[in-house]
Amino acid sequence: MKDILLTGDRPTGRLHVGHLVGSLRQRVELQDQDNFDKIFIEIADAQATTDNSGNLQKVQDNVLEVALDYLSCGIDPNKCTIFLQSQIPELSDLTFYYMNLVTLARLERNPTVKQEVKYREFGNSIPVGFMTYPISQAADITGFNANIVPVGEDQLPMIEQTREIVRTFNRLYGETLVEPEAVLPKNKVCLRLPGTDGSAKMSKSLGNCIFLADTEEEVERKIKGMYTDPNHLRVEDPGKTEENPVFIYLEAFSTPKHFEEYFTEGEYKNLDELKAHYERGGLGDMFVKKFLIYVMQDILEPIRKRRKELEKDIPGVYKILFEGSDKARKEVQETLKKVKSAMGLDYRNNQELINSQQEKYNN
Ligand code: TRP
Repeated sequence: MKDILLTGDRPTGRLHVGHLVGSLRQRVELQDQDNFDKIFIEIADAQATTDNSGNLQKVQDNVLEVALDYLSCGIDPNKCTIFLQSQIPELSDLTFYYMNLVTLARLERNPTVKQEVKYREFGNSIPVGFMTYPISQAADITGFNANIVPVGEDQLPMIEQTREIVRTFNRLYGETLVEPEAVLPKNKVCLRLPGTDGSAKMSKSLGNCIFLADTEEEVERKIKGMYTDPNHLRVEDPGKTEENPVFIYLEAFSTPKHFEEYFTEGEYKNLDELKAHYERGGLGDMFVKKFLIYVMQDILEPIRKRRKELEKDIPGVYKILFEGSDKARKEVQETLKKVKSAMGLDYRNNQELINSQQEKYNN
């Protein structure tokens, strides 16, 4: 049996270059290999409502932004099923039954939930739906029988929670659900790209992201303003390349082609040579930033171009989402049937039950 892959994003903001190296590129690569039977990419709009109930406009706006970002970076709707979580009511049914297989204490211990609760300053006012979203995520994954789930590190507790639900379900009601496996990005720098300000994570609220949809001017301005090594004051000073976002981005994005094209005299043949010069001193920040600008524009330009094309036909983008959602829904309907049957709730298709009960009354 071939693999079934499912992954997704909450539509709470435009996607940025951290998403590009962390997940989007990998999806584009995977869709062209034939190890996968099916690939599902979920825009988790229902999950996004769990902490945005007072601001659903944000969710609505970003469904389209995320869809445009997906398509413009090369995710092909003929190879991947892109769908909207909210359009599949059967996912809520699954969530409801899984809720009985998880304790409140277990949810409260989930490290990602814990961290998010703290970060969102919910205090004593945690919405019930927010608390339970890991269960709904288990429905997302198992609803499609997905065995491979590419995610960022922060999502590992969600996959673990899903695996526990699967094991409990199968133990109580018989082998029904597939236990998924998380797959992290292979390249270490791609696990989590720092923000342009040097903080550990790119986040919209910190204003330290380079978005896929940024204009050429925005990209240039953001890179020029990037944090580097704060002790690298004069060009002659030795500089640090570790924890220096400019070098981390070069590590994540530059290729031999970029070195060849930009350093036409062969000044630097690869990143190690550039790093070595910076570390021994004599290389200015702006010099390195200009190279990074070249690299990023080279990568973002085709994405921007495709986005401009897609923006001309928004109904067409929605059509892709609706068709994907219809196709995805059929999968979950099948799973829900199996789940209800395993739980003894599928009365309509259980003539045997009805007959045997009749029999009891006959005697
Ligand atoms: N929780 C994920 C995030 O915040 C999004 C998500 C929802 C997801 N359902 C999923 C990821 C299923 C992988 C599989 O990014």
